Amino acid sequence: MNSQPLHLLLFGPPGAGKSTQTEFLETEWKVAPISTGALLRAQVAAHSELGKQVSALLARGELASDEIIIPLLRARLAELSPDEGFLLDGFPRTIPQAEALDKILTELNRPLDAVISLELGTTEAVNRLGGRRICHGNGPDEIIHINDEAAVARCIERGGLLVQRPDDLPNVIVRRLAVYQTQTEPLLNFYRPRGIVRTIDASGSPQEVARRVTAAIQEIHPLTKTW
Ligand code: AP5
Repeated sequence: MNSQPLHLLLFGPPGAGKSTQTEFLETEWKVAPISTGALLRAQVAAHSELGKQVSALLARGELASDEIIIPLLRARLAELSPDEGFLLDGFPRTIPQAEALDKILTELNRPLDAVISLELGTTEAVNRLGGRRICHGNGPDEIIHINDEAAVARCIERGGLLVQRPDDLPNVIVRRLAVYQTQTEPLLNFYRPRGIVRTIDASGSPQEVARRVTAAIQEIHPLTKTW
């Protein structure tokens, strides 16, 4: 069995399920999940200088500047141990970010193995994001959908609060989807000539999507599975 660390990039519009699929993949493959959105939200929650700089941008659904995000990503990649792969969720989002990533990965001698592009229609993306709530308090945060009455009841029972991400408000969702279409989607053409892009239908249950993603990774890198 090939035990080379896997280097994956998960691509797709807001709501496509990048973070959800990351949870499946990180337990099945030896990859460190790296979400630039989560890194930025952590800075906002910590009230750091960087967090103060980006919080308004995030709430409007705009991208943080390349000058902020590239060093953040570089620092996180440099922390990986040699036998650890990675799964990038939400990076790159612009051509300069993709070019910077190439440079960083060349320096670290970690070539990208696959770009998994999750495809989802706008109506379903809006439904997922608009209904997303975080059950917060008294235990680990849980992501639920507002229409899932059983999950809402469980959250209230455990004394949790239902919180909405500021960028999940309707007008901001529309902006995030537009930003994706204009600034990020064109990046697929940056990677396509390398033959490592696989497009996946991201509709259906998270488990169904995970099976499609796993099959696509195995097709590109058949011997790397670690279980
Ligand atoms: P980020 O956190 O990356 O957000 P995003 O890309 O807009 O995507 P989401 O996290 O909302 O969606 P997702 O595709 O991960 O889906 P998820 O699994 O969560 O970025 C946030 C912001 O940070 C950006 O807008 C930008 O401002 C900034 N930023 C981040 N990276 C940056 C960068 N590189 N450069 C500049 N700025 C950057 O699922 C969504 C919902 O759907 C959940 O409720 C989930 O439970 C549900 N769901 C998932 N899969 C399914 C399924 N199969 N069926 C039903 N429901 C599902």
